[in-house]
Amino acid sequence: MSIRTILHYPDPRLRCVAAPIAQVDDAVRRLVDDMAETMYQAPGIGLAAIQVNEARRIIVIDISETRDQLQVFINPEIFYRAGEQEREEGCLSVPGVYGSVLRADRIRVRALNRDGQAFEIEAEGLLATCIQHEIDHLDGKVFVDYLSRLKQSRIRKKFEKQQRLAM
Ligand code: NI
Repeated sequence: MSIRTILHYPDPRLRCVAAPIAQVDDAVRRLVDDMAETMYQAPGIGLAAIQVNEARRIIVIDISETRDQLQVFINPEIFYRAGEQEREEGCLSVPGVYGSVLRADRIRVRALNRDGQAFEIEAEGLLATCIQHEIDHLDGKVFVDYLSRLKQSRIRKKFEKQQRLAM
């Protein structure tokens, strides 16, 4: 396993639409394991493959306090949404920035697990938010997109400045 570099907003690679996984093979499992290690080390509660520059439909999530309840979703699809919740979100690709986003409160999701087996789960609250946030990444969206234009341009300027200083 290895820790991957996480792309930072406004990197245009975060705007790619990720491609579905045709077959869950050892290479996919290696990527899943790298993503999990990268997420735990960051530390974060969710990570999409696109954030480590792999435009493929994989997300990993662990919202447990004990950090030992890894959830892997390959080719995830939300097929039911209900209710609304507004929650403060952050993102490993936008470090230090938080903002409230309105999302469905309850969702049903189907996906493949790390063994390539199909499963369905119902999620609510924080887990539902996290899954929707990560699936957005697979479609080239970042939570910042839901914030006001003013806030978005402030965040963009801040990160562009940081990147210039880092070069
Ligand atoms: Ni994120």
